[in-house]
Amino acid sequence: MEDDAILLHGGAGSDNSYSERLEKYAKSVDMKSGALDACVDAVRILEDDPDFNAGTGSVKRLDGSTQMDAAVMVAEGFGSVIGIERVKNPVDVARLVMEKTPHLILEGDGAISFARKMGFPEYDPSTEKTQRMWKKTVEYLQGIGESIPERYAKYRKYADMFDIPLSTDTVGAVARIGGKFAGAVSTGGASPMMRGRVGDVPLPGCGIFVGEMGAVVATGVGEAIIRRMLCHNIYLQIGKESLVEIIKREIDEFGDVHVGVIAIAKDEHASYSNTSMATGFHIF
Ligand code: GLY
Repeated sequence: MEDDAILLHGGAGSDNSYSERLEKYAKSVDMKSGALDACVDAVRILEDDPDFNAGTGSVKRLDGSTQMDAAVMVAEGFGSVIGIERVKNPVDVARLVMEKTPHLILEGDGAISFARKMGFPEYDPSTEKTQRMWKKTVEYLQGIGESIPERYAKYRKYADMFDIPLSTDTVGAVARIGGKFAGAVSTGGASPMMRGRVGDVPLPGCGIFVGEMGAVVATGVGEAIIRRMLCHNIYLQIGKESLVEIIKREIDEFGDVHVGVIAIAKDEHASYSNTSMATGFHIF
């Protein structure tokens, strides 16, 4: 069995030069309280870093709002929030959904009011960069002379949209500590997107899956990841061949649609993306 370890990613499309920063973040995480704490701590750090599309620095919806998705998972439980707004750390709210409610998923107003009850204050995750990016996106879409939703509907294949700003996507962590696995993910979504759009991150089996055999989290175009139930699909193959071979084969199925995965199992860990993806690994 490999040692206790954590593996992070900064999103499909994130600059590989951020890997050094991610390694530092991975090293800074306290592993003493177990895999879930380690993953949530790591994702919280990434949410607080405005260079990543999660928490502070989350990309905006076409209407200018910031709606965020986050999830946590261990072999025994799952919690997620969909379209949460005006909180600093969606990953912490997702964890409390798992630990303090009888539910698995809270969305929208319900997620926000739960967060307030749990003591999360009002917080605006926008930055100058996300404001600029939103304006540029809207100007581009308006400039082509059609209503934004109609135009957007035609562009569900994000690879066709390289002439307008694209987000660098989700952040995520997987860890194996004391033989137990955990995963955590958080995102502002894959811009450009309508208000209310839901990606892979808060859906178990799609953007995250964790069980007794390992932990898998994904990043990239949520619509494509959901269709393939990517993380559950990869999880079911753990042990049949090497993790890197499994992930590579699954990601190759996406063609030119940007997708990345990190995963950890009993004796191995792996990361692979069909675009740039910053990663950080640390053995405790
Ligand atoms: N992978 C993030 C999203 O599509 O929302």
